Order: sequence, then C-alpha cells, then structure tokens
Amino acid sequence: MQDRECLALRLQSDRLQLLDQSRLPQVQDWFAVDDVDTLIEAIHALRTRGAPMIAIAAALLVAVRVQHGDEHAAIADAIERLRTARPTAVNLMHAMDALRAALDGDDWRVAVVATAEALFDDDRALCNAMAEHGAALVAPGERILTHCNTGGLATAGIGTALGVIRRAHEQDKGISVWVDETRPLLQGGRLTAWELGELGIDYRLIADSMAASFMAAGQVDRVIVGADRIAANGDFANKIGTYGLAVLARHHGIPFAVVAPHTTVDPACSSGDAIPIEQRDAAEVRGVTGAAGELCWAPANARVANPAFDVTPAALIDHWVLDTGVYEHAAVAEGVFGPKTTAAR
Ligand code: MRU
Repeated sequence: MQDRECLALRLQSDRLQLLDQSRLPQVQDWFAVDDVDTLIEAIHALRTRGAPMIAIAAALLVAVRVQHGDEHAAIADAIERLRTARPTAVNLMHAMDALRAALDGDDWRVAVVATAEALFDDDRALCNAMAEHGAALVAPGERILTHCNTGGLATAGIGTALGVIRRAHEQDKGISVWVDETRPLLQGGRLTAWELGELGIDYRLIADSMAASFMAAGQVDRVIVGADRIAANGDFANKIGTYGLAVLARHHGIPFAVVAPHTTVDPACSSGDAIPIEQRDAAEVRGVTGAAGELCWAPANARVANPAFDVTPAALIDHWVLDTGVYEHAAVAEGVFGPKTTAAR
C-alpha cells in the first residue's frame, strides 16, 4: 500500500498509527494499531473519533491485515466486528459494507486494499467540496458558533463543519469562532480549540451553557456543526448538545447549518427516531479521568444518564451542506437524502 498521512492517522510501510485524541492537547502521542481488538478499544475510548475518521481507520486496518496475509475468513470477521464498534455514526457501517462487497470476487485482496485506500483519498476530496459549498454561505466578519470537533482530527482531510470555517478564514472573510467546550468529553475545549489555534483562526472557548446568552446578546451570526448520521427526512444525529443549539438558534433567528459528506447520509433511516444513540459510561459525567488519575466531582454512586449524541429535527435546520451541494427544505422534502418522508417531529 502507498503511505498515507493526515492530522490523526499515519499509514507507513503497511503499519497503521493513530494520534491518541484522548490525550490532546497536552500530549501528542501516536499509538500503533495492528489488530482489531486494539482498534475497537481505541474507538470505545475515543482515542480515535469523529464519524469519518473511525470509518477510515477501520478500513485501513482491514487493508493492513490483508497486506499481512490474513485469510478471507479472518478478514470477513474483522469487518463484522469493526462494523459495530460504535452504533451512531453510519460512516463506519458504510465503509465496512464497501469492504464486505470487495471480499466477493476472486481478486479480493486487491479489491479490499483498493477500497480502503479510496475511502481515505475520497474523504479528503469530500472535505474540500463541503468547505467550498459551506464557505459560500458565510459573510465577511461572521461570528460562528460550533460544537464538538469536526476538523482534521475527525476526518482524513480538513474536516466538515470546521473545514467550512477554515475555508472561510482562508478566503479572508475575517470570521471568528465561538467554540462550545462540549461536555462531557470536551471535544470542543480539547480538540477544536487546539486545531483553531494551530490554524491561527480567532476563537473564544465557552462553556456550553453560555451559548444562549451570547446569542441573546447578538454575538452569534451562524451555527455550523457536523453530523454522525443524517436520516432520509433530514433529521440528524450529532454530539449531545447540538439539538439545544438548534432550538436556541431558531429562537434567536440565527441560521443553522449541518455539514457532512454524503457518506453520513443513511437513506435506510426514515427519520431521526430510527438512529441508535450510543449510551456511555457514568464516570464520564461524574468526573474526569486523565494522566493524573480520576477526579470525581459528583457522589461516587451518583446515578447518571450519558447519551453521547442527540437528534436535531429537520425543521430546525436551514442548510444541509454536503460535498454535493447546499440543500434547503424543499430539496430534502423532495427526497434528496432518501425516500420521501414526512418530518418526524
Ligand atoms: O464522540 P465523537 O467525538 O466521535 O463525536 C463526534 C461528533 O459528534 C462529530 O460532530 C461528528 O462525528 C462529525 S465529525 C466530522
């Protein structure tokens, strides 16, 4: 395989390495991924994360196993196990389905490797296309609010929502960014703030609970977020807290855009109600675990609810920005994401 590299993934001499996103921004630590168990553990622990990135990492690991001579049955088993490593983002399932299809022919070794390589290469191109389409919506001087991390760490390219922000910055639009810290795992505070700093883009980090008052004060011009799965009717799942931002944006008359590649669209999900939502460990809400150990601020036995994602109904969205273009309600109602349906909520 040809070597490949992006912000959080390196493929060198048929060896895969990932940047440990759970340790950013303090520590930039790369770890080797040679087998399925290691990658599944890393996906569960969010050492690698973001809808496109987990799909690409899983696909390239399967290709690595092919290069190392694993037999057909072992590769088929790896694909099935990786496919269910996280339940909400559909990109992983689509990528594994593509690899499973590539297993069918006589030349399956060549086909699986080529499919995995194409997933990486295509994702970079998809990011650039989304960035171009999305940046065209952004007016000079806009103050854009974003949530979670949707940048280079989450994709093979420049990102989805953050790619749009980056492109608008590169176009000298003089934008600035409000970064939601994104409780409970702080992808905004740890990852997006880091990426924006590296890119030299003006930003302010805020606690999630501050978004409403900055909107009320007229200091937010647009909300741009990513997605883990877009249903046929335009509802989408994204990091917990996204739905609240969409409600707030609508109340304050602020345009709200979701940015995702077509690989995030799931025509088989008729509405957001059909998207499975990952439930995570109570410890993530009770406190934080880092290199220094565990800091618990809640009673150790506090009962906790911890859904990792929420669903934003199509009615609250102004723009769906895909690599194929920008869509509004009329196109979504016409079935651009799948069979025509009525809005779920
Ligand atoms: O739990 P995470 O960090 O994987 O959640 C990531 C998100 O919700 C992103 O917004 C989404 O995957 C899009 S990334 C381009």
